[in-house]
Amino acid sequence: MAQIKTIGILTSGGDAPGMNAAIRAVTRAGICNGFKIKGIYRGYDGLINNEVTDFTTENVSGIIMSGGTILKTARSMEFMTDEGKRKAYDTLVKHQIDALVVIGGNGSLTGAMEFAKDYDVCCIGLPGTIDNDLYGTDSTIGYDTTLNTIVECVDRIRDTAQSHERIFFVEVMGRDAGFLAQNSAIASGAEAAIIPEDRTDVDQLAQFMERGIRKSKRSCIVIVSESPKCGALYYADRVRNEFPQYDVRVSILGHLQRGGRPTAHDRILASRTGIGSIEAIMQGQRNVMVGVRNNEVVYVPLSEAIRSDKPFDRKLIKVLDELSI
Ligand code: F6P
Repeated sequence: MAQIKTIGILTSGGDAPGMNAAIRAVTRAGICNGFKIKGIYRGYDGLINNEVTDFTTENVSGIIMSGGTILKTARSMEFMTDEGKRKAYDTLVKHQIDALVVIGGNGSLTGAMEFAKDYDVCCIGLPGTIDNDLYGTDSTIGYDTTLNTIVECVDRIRDTAQSHERIFFVEVMGRDAGFLAQNSAIASGAEAAIIPEDRTDVDQLAQFMERGIRKSKRSCIVIVSESPKCGALYYADRVRNEFPQYDVRVSILGHLQRGGRPTAHDRILASRTGIGSIEAIMQGQRNVMVGVRNNEVVYVPLSEAIRSDKPFDRKLIKVLDELSI
């Protein structure tokens, strides 16, 4: 493969706080090391539609502290088609972009992997998602900020839950992963978490009612991972029917979880992995995600990073169970 001179950056999928810090790091580290940097707007859609701009260090000034992504983002359907990928490749050729840094979650890095299979392009992924569901990195850019936002919201909900002696079901994001729900429950002192990793035949609601609210507590907070069928509304309805003596409310935090200023942790993770992406390119790495594991920057093949079974530490379930008595 020819020497890499120009690097394109894009953000894709759900935005995550810290994506801007990552864009800044890739741009500045790239320029420091003699590469030309091009910003690609609106994710893979922008690559297909030729939305490409030269980036200088000024393009990324004053953005480290802001949530969202200055490059905009999209979930591109067209990029999943052969025709979409071909158009995207034509744009790369037109702008002489020989490596692509993709900041995004599972779907976005899957897109990068498929693209790299079909075309001779060096694709480097950065783990940008609030869901923390990418394998091979201890956490993902945006996860820590969202966790803190949820905890702040739950602290507030606790005030009203206690005052009215109510049961609150608080629904949080995470798609198919329970990291946000379980850890926000631990950090906010919630009484229980209902997460996809712990779905068993045992009726979780009955179990929770047994051990929690019946004992002594007159108010309680249950964090529920989003789910099309078994979200917070489902559990609230069941409590209303099966335990009518309780006053129940639901709070779905929704997209407010995804916005806001990134925490220091996410800014540092974004900065380290952003620089790591440029080092990866200089070392001749291809088709890897840059993560941080045990405080070391690591390169994880994209095919491994997108594995759906990122291990969930089941000891966290015990932590919450024991501390919520
Ligand atoms: O992947 C990030 C995420 O926020 C998930 O937690 C959530 O399921 C999804 O994106 C929501 O996507 P959208 O903003 O497209 O509704």
